[in-house]
Amino acid sequence: MTFLKTKKRKTLLQFSETQKEASYQTLNKYLVDFSNLSLVTKQAHWNLQGKNFIAVHEMLDDFYEMFQKYVDIFAERLVQMNLPAIATAEHLSRCTSFQEYPSEILTVEEHLYSLLERYSQTANSLRSDIDKAEADAATIDYYTQAVEELDKAVWFIEAHLN
Ligand SMILES: [Fe+2]
Repeated sequence: MTFLKTKKRKTLLQFSETQKEASYQTLNKYLVDFSNLSLVTKQAHWNLQGKNFIAVHEMLDDFYEMFQKYVDIFAERLVQMNLPAIATAEHLSRCTSFQEYPSEILTVEEHLYSLLERYSQTANSLRSDIDKAEADAATIDYYTQAVEELDKAVWFIEAHLN
């Protein structure tokens, strides 16, 4: 297990090394991915133009809040398990699951397709990690809550596009 070097805090909470390793792999991945999803969602919120602008602009702010909520939940779960919670720009860039968000797009439709690709990739990945259930039960419970909200966001975007 390779963690960034951090000082360990004192805790009476007990987790097995297997639980910690499995939880670290996925919590770190989703801390990074949800951080990146929150950033690209604001990118779209600011830059998109065209049909249904205000509805989509406001919908994306709700999604941004949702991503930020889980960024905090995943980071704090890592710390509870005495694991490092790292979400610096450098770490996000190094560990991201996504291609760079396109800067040359403009329309509501182009931005929604770009977000949909990333949201659905993460929802399906979370679902797969829940099914494998290698992390501890409380961490899996957070993933279950997150995938419910992410599936809803995917549905909202698809309803705009279909
Ligand atoms: Fe805004």
